Parts: sequence; C-alpha cells; structure tokens
Amino acid sequence: MSAILPPSERIWWNHPLDRVEGTWVALALIWCLFMFVMMPYWHVYGKQNLSNEAYKIAPEAYAAKAQAVVDKYTVRTETDRQYPVVHPPAGSDVYLIARLWEWWPILELEKDKTYRLHLSSMDWLHGFSLQPENINIQVHPGYDMVVNITPTDAGAFGIVCNEYCGIGHSTMSGKLYVVE
Ligand code: CUA
Repeated sequence: MSAILPPSERIWWNHPLDRVEGTWVALALIWCLFMFVMMPYWHVYGKQNLSNEAYKIAPEAYAAKAQAVVDKYTVRTETDRQYPVVHPPAGSDVYLIARLWEWWPILELEKDKTYRLHLSSMDWLHGFSLQPENINIQVHPGYDMVVNITPTDAGAFGIVCNEYCGIGHSTMSGKLYVVE
C-alpha cells in the first residue's frame, strides 16, 4: 500500500498491520509513555509547571480584592493611562487582573521575597506569560488562580497574553518590576 495513492481495496482496515505501520505505532506509544512519566518529573525537579491553586470567585469579588490592594499600596502611576504601580509588602497576597486587553495593575515586588500571586480574568480566557522567564499560567474568569512566586532576579519583566482573546490580543501586555 502506498501512503500517497488511495488504497486499491476500499476495505483497507481489514488488512493485516504492515511492519512499518506497526513500528510507527509502537514508537508513538513509547513516546507518549515517556512524556507521561516526564510531566510529573519536570513538575517536581524542573523549573517549569508551577504548582497552582484554583478557587472559585466571582469577577466582581476578585476585582474588589485587587482594588483594595491597589488603593492601599500604590506608589506611583505610569504611562498616560495612569496605570498604578503597586508595591505590596513582602510575603503578601498580590492581585493581577486580566481583561480585554490589559494586565492591571503594574506590580512591584522585592527580590528573594515570596508572594502569593493571584490571577483572574474579568471576561474570558487569557494567558499569563512572564517574559523573558518561561512561566505560563492560564487565567480564567470565575477562578482565582494562585501561585507562590519568589523572584530571583531584579529588573523589569514583561507580561504578554498567550491565549488568543480577540482583536486586541497582540496588544495585551503588562509589566512587573522586581526591585532589590
Ligand atoms: Cu488576552 Cu490574549
């Protein structure tokens, strides 16, 4: 049987398994099993696949929590859209809102301090991708996604959206500062 031409006999699925075909099925299966084992391995021993927690929360309730932190710990504003730069105390809960099409507010964290970073969406699915680090977390509406983070490098980091969310998806970027 050729892989390019259509099968000469129409009831092709009754043919015995070809050796090459069987080899490829076996290779694919072995690869699947390998990845199946490696996913938990990378979670425990790698630097990716963060442990996150998810809690149900209404978007309005989440927004109120984020607003309370912004009201209390804003240290300055940036850009002509007056984004608040929020410097919450080390070790505290910090909130980031994803919505069409922005990340709000700008967080300013301290190096080597651990925070509980909360992420939620006000509308539909977005993706939190921290640049140039390799951190990706899906951000759902109605869920408070929490990750414990400890920044190990100071500097300005970019946040981009990595789930397609409409016409403004490519402009949905934010910022996160880590200071000494
Ligand atoms: Cu938000 Cu793409």
